[in-house]
Amino acid sequence: MINIAIDGPAGAGKSTIAKTASKELGYIYVDTGALYRTVGLNALRLGKDTKSEAEVVPTLENLQVSLRFVDGEQRVFLGDEDVSTAIRQNEVSMAASNVSAIPKVREFLFDLQRDIAKKNNCIMDGRDIGTVVLPDAQIKIYLTASAEARADRRYKELIEKGQDVNYDDILKEIELRDYQDTHREIAPLKKADDAVLVDTTKLTLEESIDHMLSVIRERI
Ligand code: DC
Repeated sequence: MINIAIDGPAGAGKSTIAKTASKELGYIYVDTGALYRTVGLNALRLGKDTKSEAEVVPTLENLQVSLRFVDGEQRVFLGDEDVSTAIRQNEVSMAASNVSAIPKVREFLFDLQRDIAKKNNCIMDGRDIGTVVLPDAQIKIYLTASAEARADRRYKELIEKGQDVNYDDILKEIELRDYQDTHREIAPLKKADDAVLVDTTKLTLEESIDHMLSVIRERI
């Protein structure tokens, strides 16, 4: 199987770019952030402090998180409930980042990610795909952009979805999430030594997609 690992900070365009590229290549696109978001959503619903290991770890018992692919589109399930939309709420982003720093949560989601990659040609995006989940991926890309450019894109995306958000809050949140994701002890966000760095700060979405496809095609 061919596995393409894409890592990078929140809002760098990983999902939009990877989704388009995967259609182009006929691969499935796996968004691993959705898994951490589902664990975070579940903990929030149970009224847990998502930063507390002691409160979050017990929620993993009997927790069923699964991915299904419907017409090539990933749907994420919490038990029998399709939570693909619910996990996109803004407050779930921070909860996902919080629970993702807990080693037991990462362990809990590890096999699920590995199994999908073993069975499918896929583009998998996340924070530790090239470094931890798929260290042997044939192609690794580290996709990034300045915090301001990412906040601007996320702001527009949320406004379009009708959410009531403010740019400065989004920027602060992105900076905080970057800090948490790069400074945690376990599987922190970092570029794998053998990953190709793609900076999309000055690129339009179309240019970013073209660039990424050319990086992939050169290596397949
Ligand atoms: O990609 P995203 O913004 O949906 O991810 C939400 C959070 O989940 C992110 O802040 C950190 C965490 N995450 C992770 O730790 N490892 C991954 N492979 C994917 C996401």
